[in-house]
Amino acid sequence: MEFIEKELEAIKKEGLYRSLRPVDGHQGAHITIDGKECLNLCSNNYLGLASHPKLKQAAVEAIQKYGVGAGASRLVCGNLKFYGELENRLAKFKKQEACLVFNSGYMANLGAITALVGRGDIVFSDKLNHASIVDAILLSRAELKRYPHKDMSALEGMLKDHRPCTIDHGQRKLIITDSLFSMDGDIAPLSDIVDLARQYGAMVMVDEAHATGIFGETGSGLSEHFGLGHEIDMHMGTLSKAFGCVGGYVAGKKELIELLINKSRALIYTTAMTPPSLASALAALDIIQKERWMAKVLLENAAFLRRGLIDMGFKLASSESQIIPILTGPSDMAVAFSRALFDEGIFIQAIRPPTVPEGSARLRLTVMATHKKQDLEMALEIIAATARRLGIAG
Ligand SMILES: Cc1ncc(COP(=O)(O)O)c(C=O)c1O
Repeated sequence: MEFIEKELEAIKKEGLYRSLRPVDGHQGAHITIDGKECLNLCSNNYLGLASHPKLKQAAVEAIQKYGVGAGASRLVCGNLKFYGELENRLAKFKKQEACLVFNSGYMANLGAITALVGRGDIVFSDKLNHASIVDAILLSRAELKRYPHKDMSALEGMLKDHRPCTIDHGQRKLIITDSLFSMDGDIAPLSDIVDLARQYGAMVMVDEAHATGIFGETGSGLSEHFGLGHEIDMHMGTLSKAFGCVGGYVAGKKELIELLINKSRALIYTTAMTPPSLASALAALDIIQKERWMAKVLLENAAFLRRGLIDMGFKLASSESQIIPILTGPSDMAVAFSRALFDEGIFIQAIRPPTVPEGSARLRLTVMATHKKQDLEMALEIIAATARRLGIAG
């Protein structure tokens, strides 16, 4: 097994070595990591719900009534009654006929995509789509066509090249995009994608992992924001980010959900979610729907931080949201910046290839609704001083 040490050495040499760090206490605007309390600027717990008293109470009550495990997969005896309630409510939230909950967002993408397309089909996927989408397409054995980020003329060119021939072989075409891109924080041109899909006979799937709970009048995401709910065939979302819990879901037509129940291996061959995770997701949905001010505060905080960083001269990719990348270029620069900020009490994880394209390492800063103005002002000052000290542009 000598190759393992060699591989690890090579990873270290490239500045791409990763290790796990212990986190203690609540997930919040402040976090204790490696025993040190820091301002947390890299969590996807955007609304601060992961430690909200109502979610904790729902989880505790569910444990007391139902225990901590589901006992089996959903199709055996693990289909706890919370599932029905959560799926009905999520379907209404997304204004779709039906919904199916999976154990994680990763598994929702895996389960949905592999059930919908297979060998002989084609999937058109934005180059910056999340890894779970890419993995799912590869696993499905459909042909993967990656179009340059948000480049609609490139997508149209690819769709033209794959027009159906006179004999219909029943080939399925699927366009998939993140609605809010997880590493750049920018928004997909959903209307254009839907138009192209209709023109060239393709289905559309949208991953709303980072937009759910934040964008749209009722918080159901960017498809709602753009009024495209009924134009999109498969709506995917997570319960792990603004919801502050764990899980993922797919919403759409009844028959689609029926097919997923029958074909999604990521649903069939895994133990169902636990009672506290389902109950807390229901409590989170209540809050997301009733307390819309939280998303507003989040986006105000994001605008404040973005403006401050732009004024300092940082390159932020094309962020339009609570996800704000500070591009550093080389991976070792991103790691050095992250370490130096940690020493100053600010936690922002460095993100390196292969999570982001080669040469685009970054600090992926994320804002929360629970950050106070003073937190953000302090962060801006420390980020500026640390960048100056390290000779990083900004
Ligand atoms: C766009 C996108 N889709 C899917 C996922 C997977 O979701 P989960 O973390 O719930 O497995 C993520 C998580 O980072 C994501 O960013």
